[in-house]
Amino acid sequence: MESHSASVGVLVVGTGFIAAQHAAAIHAEPRLELLGVVDIDPGRAAAASRANGGVPWFTDLGAALAETGAGACVVCTPNDTHADLAVQVAEAGAHLLIEKPLATDVAGARRAAEAFARAGRVLMPAHSHRYYDYALTVRDVIRAGELGAVDLVRLSLLGGWIWPDWRGWMLDPARSGGHSLHNGVHLLDLVTWWTGDIPETVYARGRRQTAAELRVYDYLEMTVAFAGGAVAVCEMSRGHRPTSYARRDVLVSGSGGILTLPWDAEAGSVTDESGTALLPPGGTDGFATQIAAWADAVTGGPPAVTAEDGLLAVAMGVAAERSIAEGRPVPVAEVLKEAA
Ligand SMILES: NC(=O)c1ccc[n+]([C@@H]2O[C@H](COP(=O)([O-])OP(=O)(O)OC[C@H]3O[C@@H](n4cnc5c(N)ncnc54)[C@H](O)[C@@H]3O)[C@@H](O)[C@H]2O)c1
Repeated sequence: MESHSASVGVLVVGTGFIAAQHAAAIHAEPRLELLGVVDIDPGRAAAASRANGGVPWFTDLGAALAETGAGACVVCTPNDTHADLAVQVAEAGAHLLIEKPLATDVAGARRAAEAFARAGRVLMPAHSHRYYDYALTVRDVIRAGELGAVDLVRLSLLGGWIWPDWRGWMLDPARSGGHSLHNGVHLLDLVTWWTGDIPETVYARGRRQTAAELRVYDYLEMTVAFAGGAVAVCEMSRGHRPTSYARRDVLVSGSGGILTLPWDAEAGSVTDESGTALLPPGGTDGFATQIAAWADAVTGGPPAVTAEDGLLAVAMGVAAERSIAEGRPVPVAEVLKEAA
C-alpha cells in the first residue's frame, strides 16, 4: 500500500470556485496530503469535504490547524481576507500557498511577508499564470536571449464571464482591491517576470464595459514602464460579449526578433533576420505545476514565486488603480514608500 508518511499535511482554506482546482492538484501531488478543508460557510465546507473523500471540515482555521496538525495551507478566500489569514498561518508555523493578490494593499502584503520571514516558513503567492505553458514559453525564449534586448511586451487577456459568475465581493473594490488587483495582477506579475526588469511606473485606464453601474472596471488598459527602457502594454477584459469569449494575445519584440503567441493550440513563433521558427505547443496543467513548485519549496527548495514578488505585484495593482483614479502614470516606488 502507498505510504503517505513523508508527505506534508495540507488544509484548503476557502472552498469556493478556485479551491477545487487546488484540491485536485494536491491529490495528484505525492508529497502533499489533504488533511481537511476550512470555510466560514459550514455548507460549503461540508460539501468540499464530501467532494474530497470525506476529509474533516472546519469553520475555523485555528481549530483546523490544531486538530489536524497540518504543516501547510492553501488559502483561496476573498482577497481582503488574505493578509490576516497569512499572518495566522505564519504564526501557527505552517507553510502557505496563497491566492493572488497577496493582499489588497502594500501594508497587508508587507505584514504577511514579514510574518513568514519571522516564522522561517514558505510563503508562495499563487500567480498561477506563471505555470501555464504560454507563460513558461515566453519566459524561456526571452531568457535564452533569442529576442535580444526586449523593448516591448504586448499582452491581452480578453474574456466575457463577469456575469453571472462574479459574486458580491469581486464586484466590491474594497474587498477585491479593484480589478487591477483582482485580475490585472496576473498580467502585471507576468510582464515583470518575463522582462526580469524593475517596473518604474504604471499608467492605466479603466472602463465599465458590462454596465455603467459596475463598481469595478471590467476592462483595463495598463502600461508598465521598466527601468531598462522596455514597455509592457497590458489589456485585461472580463466584459466582452459573448460571455463564452476568451482570447489571449502575446507579442514580445526585442533587438533580435519578435515572438508571437496566438490564442489556440497552435504553436507560437519567433521571427528573426533568418526567418520564422515555430515554438512547440504545450499541454500541461498550470495548477499541477504550481502545486509541485510549492511542494518543492515546502520540502526545502527555493520558492518559484517569492513573498517579495507578491508584494511587488500588489504595489503595481495599487498603482494601476490609482492611475485610473488620478489620470497620471503612478511610480511604483511611490506606492511602496507609503507603506514602508
Ligand atoms: N489563480 C486564478 O486563476 C484564480 C481564479 C479565481 C480566483 N482566484 C483567487 O482565489 C481566491 C478565491 O476566489 P474564488 O473565486 O474561489 O472565490 P469564492 O467566493 O468562490 O470562494 C471564496 C470562499 O472563501 C470562503 N471564505 C470567506 N472568508 C473566509 C475566511 N475568513 N476563512 C475561510 N473561508 C472564507 C467563502 O465562504 C467562499 O466559500 C481569490 O483570492 C481570487 O482572487 C484565483
